[in-house]
Amino acid sequence: MSNTQNLGQQDGAGDLGATLPEQDAPALSSADHIALAQEHSAHNYAPLPVVIAEGRGAWVTDVEGKRYLDCLAGYSAMNFGHHNPDLLDAAHRQLDRVTLTSRAFYNDRFGPWVDSLARMVGKEKVLPMNTGAEAVETGIKVARKWGYEVKGVPENQATIVVAGANFHGRTTTIISFSSDPEARTGFGPYTPGFRSVPYGDAAAIEAAIDDTTVAVLIEPVQGEAGVIVPPPDYLPRVREVCDANRVLFIADEVQSGLGRTGTIRACEHTGVVPDAYLFGKALGGGILPVSAMVANEDVLGVIQPGQHGSTFGGNPLAGAVGSTVVRMLTEGPYLENARKLGDLFGRRLEEFVGRGVVSVRSIGLWAGVDVDPELASGKEMCRRLAENGVLVKDTHGSTVRMSPPLVIGEEDLNWGLDRFAEVLEDLRAGR
Ligand SMILES: Cc1ncc(COP(=O)(O)O)c(C=O)c1O
Repeated sequence: MSNTQNLGQQDGAGDLGATLPEQDAPALSSADHIALAQEHSAHNYAPLPVVIAEGRGAWVTDVEGKRYLDCLAGYSAMNFGHHNPDLLDAAHRQLDRVTLTSRAFYNDRFGPWVDSLARMVGKEKVLPMNTGAEAVETGIKVARKWGYEVKGVPENQATIVVAGANFHGRTTTIISFSSDPEARTGFGPYTPGFRSVPYGDAAAIEAAIDDTTVAVLIEPVQGEAGVIVPPPDYLPRVREVCDANRVLFIADEVQSGLGRTGTIRACEHTGVVPDAYLFGKALGGGILPVSAMVANEDVLGVIQPGQHGSTFGGNPLAGAVGSTVVRMLTEGPYLENARKLGDLFGRRLEEFVGRGVVSVRSIGLWAGVDVDPELASGKEMCRRLAENGVLVKDTHGSTVRMSPPLVIGEEDLNWGLDRFAEVLEDLRAGR
């Protein structure tokens, strides 16, 4: 039988995939890998000089075999740790069945997944996408359509109120309402229809709302801005303002949700129920990009066939992994660990204030640490921590963001914080 006739054969014999010899990653040094990336990749990131080859739990290993405690966890995409056996098992089993069908057909992982996700957060419906930015775009499109069809806003007049210093992703529409010059500059013309007000100020939201306003879109905790936890009355006030003005409250829980703060939704801390949640990152278990807008029928019901979607959104592999994520969050020890170790994490970080750290904000296993700018920039702090075996990421100026995986143990967390203390001591001693 010729190769052509064998294409797609179920036993794999003679099909195209089976004709390639197995290939391991080439044996290059970290320096070689960095040189290749520098030369042939767009410079849209400025990574620390660490080349990761493997990960287990809260730890990763570079190509030379050096181990690092991963206290970034893929910006919370790796909430369940590297090489999580439950997630790998779900993915492996699904890889052997079917991975992509498109939404032209149903698949047997889709229904159970959207059912479990909607139930987990007490809503009726899910619109699945892939990246966090796509979930945000979905929220914007749904809110606009809801505004025209349900609220009666005149066509093309819809406005959405957002918060300053937000981070919702990097599409042209999303950067149109970013206040970060790096994210925005050079990418205009910008999408109209957004009003930005200071984060944490519900009165400013109220003042920005008028008859054209269809939604308020905010992060319950601002991640990229440096883990900014709003005052406790902020989200409840936003809820009231939205109710009083018939405006949708959309919570971008792409980073704050799915266990990071010790709860499934960061909104839970203040008992607030928004009209829609946007999830991403950890929803794909760190294995593949999975995101979703989750809301009730009165909101998501405005979308009809052909109006929104994605080839990969809702694929069976995503469904298998996503269902496992839901099960792990509802049945597993992750939330409890995040709460328990979150207390220790916050307490120990607070002890650094006045000893090289200016201020700390933390919630669950998530913290923004403002290093004294006289001592080091955030980037320098991250470089030194990596040298000492701890991976974190800087954000604006001298702030360091920490979000260890929710599987981290107390001993490892303490070990990482000890390294943090040592780096601070070195800096203070001028070393
Ligand atoms: C709150 C929030 N929304 C959206 C996004 C965008 O997600 P993605 O990078 O998957 O597009 C991020 C990414 O950091 C985020 O933190």
